[in-house]
Amino acid sequence: MKKSNKYFRLGVILGMFLLVLAACSSDQSEPAEEPGESEESGGEVAFQEAIDTYQNSCISCHGTDLQGGAGPDLREVGANLSQDEIETVIRDGRGIMPGYASQFSQDQIVELAEWLASKN
Ligand code: HEC
Repeated sequence: MKKSNKYFRLGVILGMFLLVLAACSSDQSEPAEEPGESEESGGEVAFQEAIDTYQNSCISCHGTDLQGGAGPDLREVGANLSQDEIETVIRDGRGIMPGYASQFSQDQIVELAEWLASKN
């Protein structure tokens, strides 16, 4: 009887030890998450509509990043052409490039030209 009592007390001590351990480890809560900061792709946002138009109508020839393809590289087009000249190319087309006067509104053409003219 005395012997089993001793083992019982050992068990209780061991159990308490484990409880303390468990309490400590569960205390390591996850670091609180930072409040979400929405990322802004600064600068380009103003021309979002022009970028959308470009993606719908121009990437097939001028590439996803203006890098060119069937059409010339437009990454520095603003260094070669004025906004007016770019508007004319978009409106009337040039060589194998079609004109977009009948597809785009005047505003769309102007915004697209303004955006491209800023590439230099
Ligand atoms: C069918 C293919 C094609 C499509 C679609 C196309 N282009 Fe072009 N683009 C060309 C080609 C080819 C040239 C060069 C024309 C030439 O000088 O003979 C060109 C030239 C240009 C130029 C003048 C570049 C320079 O350095 O002189 C601009 C600006 C331009 N494209 C903008 C656009 C925009 C904006 C769109 C969409 C609205 C567009 N292009 C759609 C083929 C295309």
